[in-house]
Amino acid sequence: MKRTYNWLFKVVRGGVPRDRRVLEPELARELQASYNNAAKMNSPMPRTLQVRLVVNNEECLIEIYPKKPDDLPAIGNSDLYFCVKHFEDDMDDESRAGGTEEKAAEHIVQELTFEPSAPSATKKDLFDFLIHPAKEKILNALAEGFAGYSARRTWAQKHYCSIPKILELPQPAIPAFIFAGPPGTGKTAMASCIGVAIAAKLSRPVTFLRVGMSLRGTGLQGKTSEIVHGLFRNVKKLFTGKMVLLFFDEADAFVPSRQQMDHSSGSHENLAIVNAIIKEMDDIRSQPGCQIVVLFATNALPRLDAAVVRRCKVFHFTTPTPKEHKTVLEAALAGFGFQDEEIAGLHGDLLAREQSVPNWAFSFSDIIEGVILPAIDEARLENRPLSSQILQKCIREAKPMVRRDVIPSYIK
Ligand SMILES: Nc1ncnc2c1ncn2[C@@H]1O[C@H](COP(=O)(O)OP(=O)(O)OP(=O)(O)O)[C@@H](O)[C@H]1O
Ligand SMILES: [Mg+2]
Repeated sequence: MKRTYNWLFKVVRGGVPRDRRVLEPELARELQASYNNAAKMNSPMPRTLQVRLVVNNEECLIEIYPKKPDDLPAIGNSDLYFCVKHFEDDMDDESRAGGTEEKAAEHIVQELTFEPSAPSATKKDLFDFLIHPAKEKILNALAEGFAGYSARRTWAQKHYCSIPKILELPQPAIPAFIFAGPPGTGKTAMASCIGVAIAAKLSRPVTFLRVGMSLRGTGLQGKTSEIVHGLFRNVKKLFTGKMVLLFFDEADAFVPSRQQMDHSSGSHENLAIVNAIIKEMDDIRSQPGCQIVVLFATNALPRLDAAVVRRCKVFHFTTPTPKEHKTVLEAALAGFGFQDEEIAGLHGDLLAREQSVPNWAFSFSDIIEGVILPAIDEARLENRPLSSQILQKCIREAKPMVRRDVIPSYIK
């Protein structure tokens, strides 16, 4: 039986982030060879490539979405690793051919409801932990996105006892947002926990729904747009009158630029998804009763469809400033009993390590997942408390993973 696996892959230099799953070497080699063969035959380079392979005696169709255009020529270089995100979907042909509405519900892969009266402690802690200079502004904007649905009408009802015509027209406010920025800067983390703060701010429950990659890669061109419409219909039906944050992570895979699309297989399907999502975003605007806010996250903003970007307010996420390096260290090492001078010393070490790798910067996740957590693990395995020495060693071994030249392109 044929199965479709969707992989979103990244190529990184010199190391593999801990939270990523890595392809088995054999499959990576095969993918690399297939990719390079296809790349040779295609001009311009393909944006999406489908590779057919036999894995564990099963024929697989693997889709590859390079994250940045300049990743492409680097593939094949032996010091590069394939870093792979595996999404949950391995639907077979039968289930793909089924109805649309019920099937559409299957594409929601995470559902969390944040109650203002009983906030999720973990998500609240994460929200408090995340560093972003415009955190409050982001929170206010998203909350206003929800409030905008009814606030003007409530205000008019109160002051005029009726709704003036202009407020019956399609809403001009666009409740759609993009979190854009290099890897490891907190886009997914912020999206996953901001609902807790919105719920508290508006004193109403917020439901967070994450749309799975399975929405694309159905392989059924005629069905794709119907599945997108079904998904939105379903959300509106199931959550009538409620506040829903509909999250598309790795948005460059959902709403890639239609201008930049090549003619590789899958492009018709991509086109159908982008068109359908735009249509649905416009429908949301014309329906005051429906309280959905759409949120995209991407580390390839230039690759997103211009019409989608135009409908969204973009918030940029970036690598930590030297001062924020210290804030991360302080926050991450709270509770371990380090003195201020020790933290200051580690801060100096961290900055020196970053400067020793020209043109590369630490992301927040490089510090948390590349320094702090490995140091904790090392202390744990040696069965002793975390020390400055262990942290210093991990800092020396840590690798900044964000190329500096990609940073300015996100920060206008
Ligand atoms: N701004 C931040 N403040 C504090 N911690 C952060 C921040 N950004 C990232 N982290 C840490 O790194 C982890 C991974 O970040 P996250 O997955 O949100 O990055 P991302 O921007 O979505 O990256 P990608 O583009 O690769 O998907 C977070 O769970 C958190 O521990
Ligand atoms: Mg992410």
